Parts: sequence; structure tokens; C-alpha cells
Amino acid sequence: MNFIVAIDGTAGSGKGTIGKAISRHYNFRYLDTGLLYRALAFNLRSFSGNLGSISEKNILKAIRAIDEKILQLKELRENEFGEKASLIATNPFVRKELLIYQRNFASQNGGAVLDGRDIGTVVCPDANVKIFVDAIESVRARRRVKQFKEQKLAISYTEVLEDLRKRDEQDRNRKVSPMVPAKDALLLDSSKMSVQDSLDIVVLRINAELNKNNIE
Ligand code: DC
Repeated sequence: MNFIVAIDGTAGSGKGTIGKAISRHYNFRYLDTGLLYRALAFNLRSFSGNLGSISEKNILKAIRAIDEKILQLKELRENEFGEKASLIATNPFVRKELLIYQRNFASQNGGAVLDGRDIGTVVCPDANVKIFVDAIESVRARRRVKQFKEQKLAISYTEVLEDLRKRDEQDRNRKVSPMVPAKDALLLDSSKMSVQDSLDIVVLRINAELNKNNIE
């Protein structure tokens, strides 16, 4: 069997927290696709923000060099790589190549959870369950500051808010695979919800879909 849960959403909306918890709950494989774009930005060390300066050959080399060790790096979570990832994600060649990686992951046997911006629309348009998570900006920024503090990263609320705004705008307005809820996605506004509240809603949706497909 192949059962796919697609979780998309705005920056800092909590989609990663939900995705990880869902993968643990159902013992499904989990892929944080944002981390792939971050790792690519990291591997393209010379990338200063000028997209015209990177060749397809260097992009391919940098994608092939993404491994478990790089994906574990704490610094990938920092704002610098969020911003660079969002910029690099506007490049159609980058998206085409990472699409192959993501589809390979999703097509293996068993259950899989993928979180990102275009999972329900482009990467897995036939996903069994699609969720689009959002929350008002101030709530997302506060949650992010808290997470950064826990990781001992000093960053102000204003900086975090600016970063979220800039990235959302870039992710929403790019030409290829913009961030947009799939037509059949469940829209989840987590502004006033605890993580548990969000999880309860997603679990209900997944259970209904598993039952429909006669999957225990
Ligand atoms: O989920 P994240 O904040 O780690 O993602 C970092 C950036 O990567 C995000 O701002 C846009 C890009 N991204 C994307 O374009 N498509 C995805 N499926 C996941 C992330």
C-alpha cells in the first residue's frame, strides 16, 4: 500500500511539528522538503543571492551532495538559510530536480508524510490527505522566536516577522509551483489552536481516509 499525507503551509505555521507528530503516530516515513531547499542553499556555498550566478551543473552537484549529515545540521534552521532557500526555490531547474527526489521518496511502499509548499499541488497531487496550515503572522513570529530561543539562537521578534513576511510573499508569488492550497486541501488555521488541537483534526481526517481505503 502507498498512503500519502501532504502538509503544506506558510512559514512558521507549525506544519513541520504536525508532520513529524503524524509520521510518529502512524509510523509513516517523513520528509521535510523545506530542508532540501535549505541544504541545497547550504551546499551552494558561493550562492550570495544572485540566482544568475549559479549554473545547472553546479546545482546538480549540490543536489547530489545532500546527505543525512547535511540534513542534520542545526544551522540549516537559521533565518539565513530560510531566506536563501526561498530564493533558490524560485529557480525552475532546482524545482524540477528536487521534484524527482521528492517523488521517489513518496512513491515507495508504505505511508509517507511530506511537508512543504507545493506537496498537495505539484509533488503529490494524488495524495490521500492534503492539509494546508496557516496562522496569523504575529502568532507564527512569536512561536518561531520561542523555538529559536530553545535552540539558543538570539533573534528578535521584528527580524523573525520580517523574514516570515518576505518569504511568504516570495513563495506565494513565484511563477513555478507557488505556495497555494490545493483545491481539495483541508485548511487549518492554527492561530488559536494548541498543537494537540491541530493534531486531533488531522488524525480524524487521516483515519476517515484510511477507513475509506480499508487500511487498518
Ligand atoms: O519549510 P521551510 O521554511 O524550511 O522552507 C524553506 C523555503 O524552501 C521556503 O521558504 C520555500 C522553499 N520551499 C519550497 O519552495 N517548496 C517546498 N516544498 C518546501 C520549501
